[in-house]
This record gives sequence, C-alpha cells and structure tokens, in this order.
Amino acid sequence: MYVSEILINNLRNHVHSELDFGKGLNVLFGLNGSGKTTILEAISLCGFSKSFMHVNDSSLMNKEEAFWHVSLNSRNDFDIPYKVNIRFNGSGKKQISSTFGDNLLPKDVIGELPLVILSPDYKNITSGSPADRREFIDKILAQSSKIYVEDIIKYKKALKQRNNLLIRAKTERHYNPQVIEPWTEVLIKTGAGIIKRRKEFEVEFVNTFRERYKDVSKGKEEVWLEYVPSGVKEIDGKTNKDEIKESLKLAFEKAEKEELRRGTTLYGPQKDELKILINSGVAKEYASQGQHKSLLISLKFSEFHYLKEKKRETPVVLLDDIFSELDIERAEKVLEMVTSNSAQTLITVTDGETMKKIMPHKADCRFYKVDNGLIYKE
Ligand SMILES: Nc1ncnc2c1ncn2[C@@H]1O[C@H](COP(=O)(O)OP(=O)(O)OP(=O)(O)O)[C@@H](O)[C@H]1O
Ligand SMILES: [Mg+2]
Repeated sequence: MYVSEILINNLRNHVHSELDFGKGLNVLFGLNGSGKTTILEAISLCGFSKSFMHVNDSSLMNKEEAFWHVSLNSRNDFDIPYKVNIRFNGSGKKQISSTFGDNLLPKDVIGELPLVILSPDYKNITSGSPADRREFIDKILAQSSKIYVEDIIKYKKALKQRNNLLIRAKTERHYNPQVIEPWTEVLIKTGAGIIKRRKEFEVEFVNTFRERYKDVSKGKEEVWLEYVPSGVKEIDGKTNKDEIKESLKLAFEKAEKEELRRGTTLYGPQKDELKILINSGVAKEYASQGQHKSLLISLKFSEFHYLKEKKRETPVVLLDDIFSELDIERAEKVLEMVTSNSAQTLITVTDGETMKKIMPHKADCRFYKVDNGLIYKE
C-alpha cells in the first residue's frame, strides 16, 4: 500500500497543507516544532481514526480554528485506489467517510490502510507497563481482524458498566447479583474471544520476533514472548473458546467477594500481560539500553511482517523522530529493512543532512522541508 496524497486542514500548526508522496522513502525534515509529526498523525487518523500520540481529537485542532479535516488518497499493492476523509467539528463524533461509504465508524476504517508506526513513545512497549504491551498487541490485531475490534469495543463498554455497578454496590453496601450478571456474561463471552486471538498471536508472532532480533542485535542473547492471560491458566494456541470461557467463569466466581470489597473487576483481558523475555529475564528489568532498542525494532519489524501476511498487503511505515531513540547504526538497519521490503516509509528528522548520508544506495527517496506548518518539496 502507499499513500499518494494527503490534504490537512487545521491540524495543529498545519492550516492548509497538501502533499504528494513517493512510493519509497519520504523524509520530512525541519526544526523542532515545525510540524513534522503532525503529518504522521494525520496519516494515523486515516488508518486508526486516532493519532498515535495519545491525545484527544480536540487538542489536535488548530487553536484559531473551529474544525479539522484530513483527506488521504492511497493505492493498494494491486493499484486499487482507497480514499479516506475524516472531519472533526470540535464536539461530538468525527465524521468519517471512505471509498466504502459515508457516516462510517472507526471500526470501518481500522485495518484498511495498514500502518506500522515507530515513535519515541513506543519505547514503553519494552520498558513500560503491561498496558503499553496490550496496546501493542491490540493495534496489530485490530488492524488484522474486524471481529477483534468489535470484541474489544463490546468488552470495554461492558467492563465500564460492570465496574460502575461494583463501585455502587460497594458504597451502598447493597449487592444485587441479577444486575451485575448480564455484564459478567458479556465479559466472559467477548473476553474469551480476545484471549484466544491474543494467544494465537503470540504463537504466530514469536518465531518471527526471535529471527528479527538475531538479525538486528547480532547478539547471542535469546529472546522470547509469553502471553499471560489474566484469569485463565494453561492455555495454548489450540485451546478452544469454550474452554477459555469456562476458566474465566470460574475466575469470576472465585473473585466475587473480593470484587465487591474492592469495587472493581479483577480478572480478564484488561489485566493481561505480554512478557518480553531476554535470556529468561523480563526485558523491562533485565535488558540494557541497547537491547531495549534492538527489541523494539525487532517487535516493529515482526509487526510489519505479521500484518503483511495477514492483510496480504504491504503496510505503510511511519518512523517518527527515529534518531532520538536510535543510534545511526540501528537507524540504518531500520532503513535497510524498509527498503528491502519495498515499503512506503515516511520518516521525520530534524537534520536532513545526516539522513542523506545514511540513505541506502539506489533508494527511491524524496525530501520535504517542513517549516512552521508549511511544506516545501526539495
Ligand atoms: N492545537 C494546536 N494549535 C496550534 N498549534 C499547535 C497545536 N498543537 C500543537 N501545536 C504546535 O504545532 C507544532 C507541531 O508540532 P509537531 O509535533 O508536528 O512538530 P515536529 O516538527 O514534529 O517537532 P519535533 O521535531 O520537536 O518533534 C508545534 O510547534 C506545536 O507547538
Ligand atoms: Mg516530532
């Protein structure tokens, strides 16, 4: 897939930016605060209906304006066009339309423009909390399966309702099991689907990850991934959904008293962990700075290959500020990997000259200077 053109209105400091991209490497360079990341956020909005920067829709809107709008044209590996439009008026829901229709929901666009993003924030995947790793899995699985997106949405809604009821039961010291039960059932049913997909993901993903790590690090250390579902024991890639449901049901039954005491749901996918192991130690505690970087690149490139295979489509790669987290050697490795896979790649850097020096030979490469929300093609 490649993004051919993008039009951005009123997104942060981009009041009106129109830009066409090459099929290979596209380098966006400019000073801090010039508006480079915003261009990648615009693409993320079209792929996920959200920015990858963990900000809400309102804070993306230019301070002087009352709406923002992004429109993107792309073509898939078979040269079939795909268009997305996203508009936000400052309140309520975003208006989303695409080649597939108008008045769409976020779930209708997620996965249609497969994206692999590497941003400085993502160092938390290996060094942050379990929530950072759950987000990592969810972004991949959401792009590869619509059912997964639907299950996650249903699960989150039911979890919120159930937790509200548990808090109320705790404060009012009155518990009516009949009110909570329907929500518990939704959590067990959708939760089992989520856990099954996450386990299958671990099984399918781990070997690619190990191979990539060897390639990136040239080190002798062994790496591994281990998915640890909450409330479910002894699960493998073949465990069926009914067995998972039974385990979850049991966990909920056992936890009933404790949940009422604490006023919250204790088990389920919202507590899952994806352990990243290096020489049998947990990466968060065990990995050196350099190993963290190699782990992150390996995870991201495994993500690229996983999505490419699942979607039968080459994902677009967005590399935000790669030199802030990676040394030149690792950054070169990343560039080598994206070019050898013919992936369209958008890279933001402050220093365009360093980038020119490390560009792979014969790479199809374009440079764009970004200055105060304006873009100049070189
Ligand atoms: N809502 C907003 N309205 C107007 N300007 C904004 C808004 N939000 C952020 N900005 C500004 O818009 C610019 C866009 O920032 P962006 O993150 O895209 O810059 P960048 O080129 O990636 O910088 P860096 O190299 O520091 O990462 C910044 O100068 C920021 O202060
Ligand atoms: Mg930036």
